[in-house]
Amino acid sequence: MPRQSILIARAISPEVVDFLRQHFDVHTNQDDVVWSPEELAQQLQGKDGVLTTGSQTINAALLAACPQLKVVSNMAVGYNNFDVPAMTAAGVQGTNAPDVLTETTADFGFALLMATARRVTESEHYLRAGLWKEWRYDLFAGSEVHGSTLGIIGMGRIGQGIAKRGAHGFGMKVVYHNRSRLTPELEAECKASYVSKEELLKTADHVVLVLPFTPENRHTIGAAELAQMKPTATLINIARGGIVDDAALAQALRAKTIAAAGLDVFEGEPAVHPDLLTVPNVVLTPHIASATMTTRRAMAQLAADNLVAVLGGQAPRTPVNQPDAAARALRWA
Ligand code: DGY
Repeated sequence: MPRQSILIARAISPEVVDFLRQHFDVHTNQDDVVWSPEELAQQLQGKDGVLTTGSQTINAALLAACPQLKVVSNMAVGYNNFDVPAMTAAGVQGTNAPDVLTETTADFGFALLMATARRVTESEHYLRAGLWKEWRYDLFAGSEVHGSTLGIIGMGRIGQGIAKRGAHGFGMKVVYHNRSRLTPELEAECKASYVSKEELLKTADHVVLVLPFTPENRHTIGAAELAQMKPTATLINIARGGIVDDAALAQALRAKTIAAAGLDVFEGEPAVHPDLLTVPNVVLTPHIASATMTTRRAMAQLAADNLVAVLGGQAPRTPVNQPDAAARALRWA
């Protein structure tokens, strides 16, 4: 029987490529070319599975063009690049890569909060530009982190990790808003209290966004929400581009109706709204919240394990759908 064939759509840790070669006929993209949807469909001809990152769109048109494809394994916890109903209807298994990145991403959320509150990059730019002539009592004075109120919107595993860092490490009062309330045990562990979105926006000194992107979550923070925040508050987005209305945020930052923002994700990334590039009070990073080599390798390994499981006829560790049985049978025939 010929070996099953898979595509790894972007460059990943070489050790994980080697692991996959033990199981499959592997086609790689270690040069990390960013393919158009047409090129991706072309590369996927005759492939049984694909390891994707968040930058490949998997939709009905692509699935129809690749009738042999059985599994799409995302090396990301977020999977808004998947049209999940289309995958289910087409009989294709989707999987994601949660858990292995939780603590690393929570670390980064906190790093971005600290950098934003304490104006780390803004002051570094000033220094590098040779503008620092003398010490001054209010030079780049930022806002307190310890003892302040941390508001978290989206209280999944990463949100909980940020809450624990804030409550236990920095003595912060933690409030959160989420689709569903945590159990009393988890609330106690995170030292976090559930509040309405409006109360969170009005009371938090630092608002951190960690919710998944869905069409309903688009512009969870827009002009109206920004107007509810304290003028001294900061906003941190490590969730997904599109959860914040970036144009409205740039306006609020320029008008100083909020103090500062820290953004790791952007609407339409890797493009960044031009107004965000010209306001000083924002820390901008290129979607790196889970980026340590250890964590990126663990994410790739989980994605690889899911490919091995599904193409071996087993249940994946972290599925995101239950493919339609009749459509699945056609792809496996
Ligand atoms: C994720 O895992 O969703 C991160 O944003 C990396 O894409």
